[in-house]
Amino acid sequence: MKKLNLGVMISGRGSNLQAIIQACSMDDFPANIALVISNNNNAEGINHASDSQIPVNIIEEESYPDRVAFEKKITEALNFAEVELVCLAGFMKILSKNFINEWYDKIINIHPSLLPSFKGLDTHSRAISEGAKITGCSVHYVRPAVDEGPIIVQGAVPIFPEDTPDTLSKRVLEAEHKCYPLAIKLIAQGRVKVISGRTIIDGHDQFSETLINPKILKN
Ligand code: GRF
Repeated sequence: MKKLNLGVMISGRGSNLQAIIQACSMDDFPANIALVISNNNNAEGINHASDSQIPVNIIEEESYPDRVAFEKKITEALNFAEVELVCLAGFMKILSKNFINEWYDKIINIHPSLLPSFKGLDTHSRAISEGAKITGCSVHYVRPAVDEGPIIVQGAVPIFPEDTPDTLSKRVLEAEHKCYPLAIKLIAQGRVKVISGRTIIDGHDQFSETLINPKILKN
């Protein structure tokens, strides 16, 4: 089976990278990580890649005269590794319109909210303080506007009254670690089509349950 070549871009902890590595270690998973790029020399995630003998390029913006040169280096590295799908996994730099257009429909991201709600940073503290009862994560194609683009997979989790951003982020991360490999698998299998800004997934089961929070125990 010809596997889809992934380039995973990280800046920090790399728990989503780890989940993707884990998925790719399965023989029947239709994708393979060709390269990890970190824009931070101290990113913890670099160790996950090295532990699995995955090539890592550290490309720090500070080492380049400007953003154009920085992004040119990233594109060169991705092309050299024959990357077919770029996966942003906690990559904390906003990429230019040019870069994104170069990888149009070949670059995806994971965001820790149910988009289009809570774009941007601090999603968990905002979801808690706004009193949301359900939040989650979204894997989406990247477009020049931040946290926009056709949604591929979403996972929903409840918010409990005692939640802190920390406890909530742990619950959402568990969902992220399931959703990111699933989105990659669907793309690698050629089952995702982008039509009028939405994705159509071939051969999926309709989700038929309702996630209701809170669950009321007494009448
Ligand atoms: C995740 O919450 C992801 O949704 C967001 O950044 C975080 C990265 O975490 N884009 P990790 O580095 O994958 O552990």
